[in-house]
Amino acid sequence: MTASVTRAVIRGVGHYLPERVVENDWFTTFLDTSDEWIKSRSGIERRHFAAEGQTTSDLATRAAEGALADAGMQPDDIDTIILATSTPDLTFPATATIVQERLGMTRGFAFDVQAVCAGFVYALSNANALILSGQARRVLVIGAETFSRIMNWEDRTTCVLFGDGAGAVILEATEGTGTASDRGILATDLHSDGRHRDILKVSGGVSASQSTGHLMMAGKEVFRHAVEKLARSTIDVLDRAGVTVGDVDCVIPHQANIRIISRTAQKLDLPMEKVVVTVQDHGNTSAASIPLAMSVAKASGQVSEGDLVVTEAIGGGLAWGAVALRW
Ligand code: UT7
Repeated sequence: MTASVTRAVIRGVGHYLPERVVENDWFTTFLDTSDEWIKSRSGIERRHFAAEGQTTSDLATRAAEGALADAGMQPDDIDTIILATSTPDLTFPATATIVQERLGMTRGFAFDVQAVCAGFVYALSNANALILSGQARRVLVIGAETFSRIMNWEDRTTCVLFGDGAGAVILEATEGTGTASDRGILATDLHSDGRHRDILKVSGGVSASQSTGHLMMAGKEVFRHAVEKLARSTIDVLDRAGVTVGDVDCVIPHQANIRIISRTAQKLDLPMEKVVVTVQDHGNTSAASIPLAMSVAKASGQVSEGDLVVTEAIGGGLAWGAVALRW
């Protein structure tokens, strides 16, 4: 006999990218770098940068509108907005409340989650917990970033890697059977280890220095942690969901570096045909990268209803995790 359980099912996705596209060659006008280095080391060919005055909430609102349209829902159908970002408009209030107002949503509650590049996985997991506990039925989960605002333009080891953008999904409570054939989130797996906080961080902050600061990264160190931790988290989340790597139809990884993506897939014995790759066009958009990739994959047909999907990410903290879901 199978029990009836609540599942958080994806009802809509959307994304928004700022108009300005910056090709790798642009960096050669002021840095000792090349298109060849950036492409071969990271897989990145271009990225989008927000216009002057265009903020994280602007990108997030556009992505959210897309997800609402895709789901056929109105803003007041939503109970909760969770926005994953490390580049908020302001120190406070939460960027999520700015998006709430922009959407014209006058009920429910909205808050931000900060887990850097793992932010969207953390936000999805929190949305799932709110839905399973009955505190919300429909949650708008957004990842939105303007990382161009925290770049050190003199540091060629970091500024060529990041981009701006936003993606959004809408989750809705739906009755399932409690088996892995249900649509919706099947399992989540989150971790952090603050001992590694210095290998990827921003040099400033409200309490420490009353300044915004710039991104700093020990790239090789982060790379080393990434492949091992992402593969472990993916295996654990699939196990928790009651499925195996062989059951996976589609992997939607955080888009930091094609070499991390492909080595993780290789470690898991997952063919690259099953992996969604957008890093060449978006760069690393931190918390926005997974919902952006989800929206692109849905539009291209790379992911469709009924597919078993696993999504994984790692970033500053270190913070990392994975979510297994049936689309
Ligand atoms: O999303 C959050 C998580 N972040 C990540 O997952 C990023 C993880 N790390 C990475 O993706 C890679 O480590 C990088 C793409 C950042 C760097 O790739 P790498 O293969 O680890 O290169 P490296 O740092 O070992 O640098 C190799 C060389 C160095 O020169 P020397 O010391 O060998 O003479 C760098 O100075 O490449 C040099 N270099 C560059 N050369 C041209 C570093 N950046 C550049 C550049 N253009 N932009």
